[in-house]
Amino acid sequence: MILVTGATGFIASHTIVELQNAGYDIVGVDNLCNSDIETLKNIEKITGKKIEFCNVDIRDGNKLKEFLSKYKIDCCIHFAGLKAVGESVSKPVEYYDNNIGGTISLLKVLREIGCKNLIFSSSATVYGTPAFMPITEDCPKGICTNPYGWTKHMIEQILIDVQNANKDMNIVILRYFNPIGAHPSGMIGEKPNGIPNNLMPYITQVACGKREKLFVYGDDYDTPDGTGVRDYIHVVDLARGHVCAMRAIDKNCGLDIFNLGTGHGYSVLDVIKTFEHENNIKIPYEIVARRPGDIAMCYADPAKAKSVLGWVAQYSLQDMCRDSWNYQKNML
Ligand code: NAD
Ligand code: UFG
Repeated sequence: MILVTGATGFIASHTIVELQNAGYDIVGVDNLCNSDIETLKNIEKITGKKIEFCNVDIRDGNKLKEFLSKYKIDCCIHFAGLKAVGESVSKPVEYYDNNIGGTISLLKVLREIGCKNLIFSSSATVYGTPAFMPITEDCPKGICTNPYGWTKHMIEQILIDVQNANKDMNIVILRYFNPIGAHPSGMIGEKPNGIPNNLMPYITQVACGKREKLFVYGDDYDTPDGTGVRDYIHVVDLARGHVCAMRAIDKNCGLDIFNLGTGHGYSVLDVIKTFEHENNIKIPYEIVARRPGDIAMCYADPAKAKSVLGWVAQYSLQDMCRDSWNYQKNML
């Protein structure tokens, strides 16, 4: 069985669908601090399969261990964590406690129950201002601009040290680029709390009239049209990357790190234009000052994931814009 932490969250819910479709049985845990229990029913509607679930904070090691003692866990995919960059600046203690404390607690429980395989949700944010582009896994880790980024940076180091001390463990670190989109069924997707920080949820809220216009953070970057360039990846592609990462685990990879991105960079204006064209909706926007902490450009070299895991992203930016809007419409 596969243990999924943060099971009802955006990326985990899509990953569970792909894992169940590939024949894996799932045990999920989440404390529902940023997600909804309804998600479980929606996953079950998509796949027709049940998920064993417990509402537990992963920092509560006793409760977590008690729940997991009923199952034989072969591998854990660890998504649980807080992820709002801006909030992490004002609540550093909460972020370090939840993300690092949660991971330490989980690692202790995994050791106690004899689970030796772990896949971790890291982020392209660990590259800081990337030393070169496209970014390979060998690109040096950089200076993070916020506590959230540092939690990913530090957890990666903790996992490297843990695997170094326990050579029989297999740990795969996946560095996600910019996940957007939603399951094509429109039944699961990203539900941000309050004002969205990220580009695509903001665009979909402008599209449905919840917000008046999009603020584009800067048009004076050294990029083709001056706006920030990112490697947007469809969340279903990202989810499938986790199924492929199981292949590395099956081959006893020790510790390995993969970028999960498409290898293509799109600017903010590219995303707006594609969204407008694909969905036939106008997105009013205003260019404003740069957002502190943003970098000009960030896109992956995904060649390692292709050669080692056999994984390549399939969905286009058009697909991502269509599916993001489809999900938002379904929630209205
Ligand atoms: P999400 O907030 O939708 O999912 C995270 C889930 O973890 C939520 O359901 C939340 O309730 C749960 N959770 C948080 N703390 C917990 C705790 N202590 N115990 C139990 N459950 C807890 O976020 P997401 O976008 O699906 O991200 C999943 C993972 O991927 C996170 O670790 C995130 O940092 C990482 N990541 C996300 C992005 C992105 O842009 N979405 C990019 C790179 C990395
Ligand atoms: N942007 C706007 N207006 C907005 C929101 C974003 O112009 O309202 C711009 C940003 O300036 C940036 C681009 O859109 O150029 C993408 O911004 P996002 O906030 O959507 O994504 P980021 O690249 O800043 O960061 C995201 C996650 C991080 C994660 C990183 C991985 O928020 O947690 O992707 O690459 F680490």
